[in-house]
Amino acid sequence: MSSEEEASSPSPSSSFFSSSPPPSSHFICKKEDIVKAGRVTKLVNGCRDVLVLYHQGQLHAMDMRCYHSGGALQYGDIEEFNGRLCIVCPWHKYKITLAEGEGLYQAVDNPTAKPLRTHWRSKGVKQRIHKVTEVNGDVYVILNDSSETVESDVYQTERYRTVSLKAQPKPKPKK
Ligand code: FES
Repeated sequence: MSSEEEASSPSPSSSFFSSSPPPSSHFICKKEDIVKAGRVTKLVNGCRDVLVLYHQGQLHAMDMRCYHSGGALQYGDIEEFNGRLCIVCPWHKYKITLAEGEGLYQAVDNPTAKPLRTHWRSKGVKQRIHKVTEVNGDVYVILNDSSETVESDVYQTERYRTVSLKAQPKPKPKK
């Protein structure tokens, strides 16, 4: 293993550097471009709209539209909740972990107790997470083709892309 490989500590959704793109991977962009922009969206393999994020030195990839109602996650803020990095959907503020795609929420122990005591809980995996890797300065995504249904799949159909999206107003980019 080279010193570069030893020095890298990939997130669960990324893999170690290697000299050639892994099989079934799809080129997204140059790493320098995503480092500059922080996030990039791309229709991958003609079938999946993917959001790739660069945050705190790590790459992450997930379905671009929020599992709740199709919100544009590329405009969401990244925040930490209960020690877990999440993207916060700009539409209704749902929190989705970057590493696993879990939906997090705050549960109340006893709604009649004062003051209210809340805990962070997981709804389970709601957003499909994809593998992302860097090879020689290029960023690639390997689509997660698990046959297990994930809620964000609903917003990845051709019908949604062609019919529903045309009817929606375009969100304003973040300043
Ligand atoms: S669409 Fe994302 S929180 Fe509602």
